[in-house]
Amino acid sequence: MAFANRVGHLQPEGAYAVLALAQDLERQGRDVIHLELGEPDFRASDAIVEAGVEAIRAGKTRYNPPRGIAELREAVAEDAGRRRGMDISPGQVIISPGAKPNLFFPTLALVERGDRVIYPDPGFPTYEAMIGVAGGVPVPVPLAEENDFSFDLDAFDRLIDDDTKLIILNSPGNPTGGVIPRADLAHIAQKAIEHDCWVISDEIYARIAYDGLDVPSIAALDGMRERTVIVDGFSKTYAMTGWRLGYGIMPEALADRMNLLLTHSIGCTAHFTQYAGLAAVLGDQGWVDEMVAEYKQRRDTLVAGLNALPGVTCRLPQGAFYVFPNITGTGQSSDELANMLLEEMGVAVLPGTAFGKYGEGYLRLAYCNSLENIERVLERIEPLFEGLAG
Ligand SMILES: Cc1ncc(COP(=O)(O)O)c(C=O)c1O
Repeated sequence: MAFANRVGHLQPEGAYAVLALAQDLERQGRDVIHLELGEPDFRASDAIVEAGVEAIRAGKTRYNPPRGIAELREAVAEDAGRRRGMDISPGQVIISPGAKPNLFFPTLALVERGDRVIYPDPGFPTYEAMIGVAGGVPVPVPLAEENDFSFDLDAFDRLIDDDTKLIILNSPGNPTGGVIPRADLAHIAQKAIEHDCWVISDEIYARIAYDGLDVPSIAALDGMRERTVIVDGFSKTYAMTGWRLGYGIMPEALADRMNLLLTHSIGCTAHFTQYAGLAAVLGDQGWVDEMVAEYKQRRDTLVAGLNALPGVTCRLPQGAFYVFPNITGTGQSSDELANMLLEEMGVAVLPGTAFGKYGEGYLRLAYCNSLENIERVLERIEPLFEGLAG
């Protein structure tokens, strides 16, 4: 059967492929510890769950405005603006089922066939997928390990040109946990203005940052507000992945186009989940800080343990819930090592290549699992690395 070119290039997400292999092993009676999925192992707070249930009981189960209910757009505008030090109006906010539609639809709205789109490699696989569907030319920019996985700015400067329509940023980043420092953002912003590009700034991990680190948004820099789409949501910050709730913040004219795209595609975001989201934004944030403190403990344990393995070096990531160790010293490729870890040691991780060609030489471990299981992982995998070191 022949399909349109715009879907021919699509690939599954690596995490789901590894999860399926891990589950096969589990069906055969093997014990597997899961560090492959980027999904919080916490549950949304009771207050959020109650607000969602109460909304269903109150009949908030109807069609609602494609761009989202006014109360939630107002709350998001205030909260997201305060956290980024900028004024955001509710007219700039587009609510969506998860953050993904706020990546995909602005790309469709902005990119013409043949336009170049710069994106991070290693990076979230949806970026390349959506550029392809929009008919854009994917232009991967390597992330520099020696720069804590910020953009390789020399490569960026070589690759950006007047045919570049869009730059995608992700800070803190999946799969590296890297944060793009303010000085690098200022450099990227200046180039974006010079070449008249849009920026999609995927800030879904903005609240998961460690050691009091400042996570700046490029949108707050001079001249960027009118050319930036901020993407954020509830999946990671509030552990609400399956509720499907996210948002985009963009210039009002683009928001109006987005409203039409949403009208004719998804129709609207589920009604009651938006009330749960409202409770999340307006409610106590202490439990989010507690989750982040727990992630930090896991990160510290995992990074220390990985650095003690022969052939492995691991930076201390500043955000998100991923570590991205360099495994070139083992002599194995990312794919080979990820397979060995799963099949021989019962530990599911992703090869760096699941995030692009510049991911070769790395693994991604998501620490969305208990500290106890992370300690078990480190014990379990040590003999493999000792063996490889000979
Ligand atoms: C970098 C990044 N952006 C966006 C998303 C999608 O978020 P959502 O589940 O809210 O659509 C993810 C999810 O893994 C992610 O890692």
